[in-house]
Amino acid sequence: MSVGTVWEADNGAGPEDRDIDRLVAAEFTEDDLEIDRSLRPKTLDDYLGQERVKENLSVLIQAARARDEALDHALLSGPPGLGKTTLAGVIANELGVKLKTTSGPAIERAGDLAAILTNLEERDVLFIDEIHRLNRAVEEVLYPAMEDFNLDIVIGKGPAARSLRLEIPRFTLVGATTRTGMLTGPLRDRFGMAFRLDYYTPVELSDIVLRSATILGVSIDDEGAAEIARRGRGTPRLANRLLKRVRDYAQVRHSGSIDEDIAAEALAFFEVDHLGLDTMDVRILATLADTFQGRPVGLNTLASATGEEAETLEDVYEPYLLQLGLIVRTPKGRQATQRAYEHLGIAPPSSAPDQKGLF
Ligand SMILES: Nc1ncnc2c1ncn2[C@@H]1O[C@H](COP(=O)(O)OP(=O)(O)OP(=O)(O)O)[C@@H](O)[C@H]1O
Ligand SMILES: [Mg+2]
Repeated sequence: MSVGTVWEADNGAGPEDRDIDRLVAAEFTEDDLEIDRSLRPKTLDDYLGQERVKENLSVLIQAARARDEALDHALLSGPPGLGKTTLAGVIANELGVKLKTTSGPAIERAGDLAAILTNLEERDVLFIDEIHRLNRAVEEVLYPAMEDFNLDIVIGKGPAARSLRLEIPRFTLVGATTRTGMLTGPLRDRFGMAFRLDYYTPVELSDIVLRSATILGVSIDDEGAAEIARRGRGTPRLANRLLKRVRDYAQVRHSGSIDEDIAAEALAFFEVDHLGLDTMDVRILATLADTFQGRPVGLNTLASATGEEAETLEDVYEPYLLQLGLIVRTPKGRQATQRAYEHLGIAPPSSAPDQKGLF
């Protein structure tokens, strides 16, 4: 999306702008969620990319299966849409066990967790999404459950209260978080393994687009898939959504098949930035480069200037902008790089302080 579009969106977005916002925003339509589900890989072979994570998991899963034991608890971290939930399902499937899914905010009381844990079967996978949002009381019940497969329950109140120890099935906890930094030390320590998912390379993303196209029955060639992958923000969820948009465009404006030219035309039509940046990415860059004239900006200042939460900036937006070399993090704050100015198509300030080494 061009800078122009962002400012236009700010002062009254047209329908297409809002469409694009929805495409890249964290909230999805039912249709999008349905696509997510239908495209979700079920096996390690179908789960493309993240090779190091897969190799590790494959060995550990085989070992656990051979010994007929529960797999060690696994913590998955990384930005949204990179495949954490998907991987939890793959793990359960490869282990040949059931997957039970819940999330940090959904478990309000210790009793909720106790109910979930006592309903598990031996070797089941319990997936807790947004595990960094578990409350302290619940977390404390989780420690002995993860460590010794015991549940300490307190019955009654005051002097009559009694503590009861229950044995629970040996299970595997798979926790997902976009924020490893928010996890308490004791909880992090109880995971036998921790994997950080990285943004996918354009080649990996291209393979994912081709796989999705096959499932959706869309005809696309390698170059068409590569064009979509380049703008997919290193994120399978987004690449899949772009594929869906390009498919619709190809169907309406062309014969339905997608090649490089048609993909490029469609993505230009939907005003998808050629680096895959969304409205907020561009707003962050423009704030750093233009509003603050390339000076270092602290996280909280950037948050109020862009109208986004500091947490979200740090977890969702920054990693990708850092990876592309559009911003740098210095002890004094975030700064736009030369590349950011080039991308925005604006001239860098001639005498901005603290920019040595950035240009
Ligand atoms: N390695 C992969 N290979 C193929 N498709 C993938 C892969 N990872 C993710 N996807 C696709 O991307 C979609 C989004 O993945 P998923 O929902 O697992 O992300 P997530 O990391 O759990 O995101 P969030 O943090 O928002 O919960 C999935 O529906 C799936 O279709
Ligand atoms: Mg998820």
